[in-house]
Amino acid sequence: MFKIGNIEIKSNVVLAPMAGITSEAYRHFYANFNVGYVVTEMVSDMGLIYGNKETKSYISFDRLNVPTGVQLFGNSAENLAKATLICEKMNPNIDFYDVNMGCPVPKVTKTGAGSSLMNNPKLCGDIVRAIKVATHKPVTVKIRLGANNNKDQFKEVIKEVIAAGVDLIAIHPRSAKEMYGGQPHWELVKDLKKSINVPLVVSGNIYTVEDAVKAMEITGADGVMVARGAVGNPLLITNINNHYDKKELLLSDLDTQIRYCLELGRLLIEEKGENLAMRVYRGIATKFFDGFPKSKQLKCRLSTELNSYSDLTKIIEEYKKEIAI
Ligand SMILES: Cc1cc2nc3c(=O)[nH]c(=O)nc-3n(C[C@H](O)[C@H](O)[C@H](O)COP(=O)(O)O)c2cc1C
Repeated sequence: MFKIGNIEIKSNVVLAPMAGITSEAYRHFYANFNVGYVVTEMVSDMGLIYGNKETKSYISFDRLNVPTGVQLFGNSAENLAKATLICEKMNPNIDFYDVNMGCPVPKVTKTGAGSSLMNNPKLCGDIVRAIKVATHKPVTVKIRLGANNNKDQFKEVIKEVIAAGVDLIAIHPRSAKEMYGGQPHWELVKDLKKSINVPLVVSGNIYTVEDAVKAMEITGADGVMVARGAVGNPLLITNINNHYDKKELLLSDLDTQIRYCLELGRLLIEEKGENLAMRVYRGIATKFFDGFPKSKQLKCRLSTELNSYSDLTKIIEEYKKEIAI
């Protein structure tokens, strides 16, 4: 389909990095739905440099059947390169490195990292260059339109990172100030692919097959990145692929959604231990039941009462009984 450096990406639907969500278990689960690649949650360069235990846990994972990128965030080329060297030593299962140049969260931007990097296009290029010295693996970036309320900086940033040898650009066409709300500005990145000579992936409000097709058509992108729209809806990925492969689209039923929900819950428990996993799962499990009849109470219970796997199965069983009446 397309390549990141010398890595072949076999599907043009890829899994977005999402802090607090795309942990190893989540990536493992979604790797079974024909995603082209997956990316870790964002990982702090300084956390790695200081040897923070939790930060190190983000970069320790097994090999999947699809390529995995580690997403790093930081504000200096030197430290991001040091962090890359640490990753290189710690985990041979890392296939490529991605740099977060889009995070709008104040805790990150006030340090000059995330979307703040876009205020300094030259630094964006220097970061890619420095990481490329630290590793022979491909280096990608994930950007927005610009920092703060700027919607134009992406042009200069793209020039700089391409000159530095970036292997893929992923763009989420909102400004940092817009966070995750409103519509992405597809019109501002119309035909973007025509002006760049590296693979382009686009992200932003991909909830349906039509959203994906529109984003790809307007931009000419090589791939589309699914984020919130695929949480609880893995068949979104299958269906975008099916659309391009001219196969029938699939509709999920309740039993399938329950199966998916239990499977991801089990994987999370293996990764994090039952108590922590089920607390994290409160914000994810509900999404498997969006649009199902009388699911309001089920979702409320999942988001407040989930402490163990048996809570998960019990709450779902009680819902099944209720709707069977
Ligand atoms: C909870 C959450 C966490 C996110 N964490 C990251 C992150 O760690 N790194 C990153 O580059 N983008 C992150 N994003 C942005 C997504 O990757 C994606 O670009 C964005 O949500 C737009 O896609 P969507 O509108 O389809 O959700 C996050 C988004 C959400 C909702």
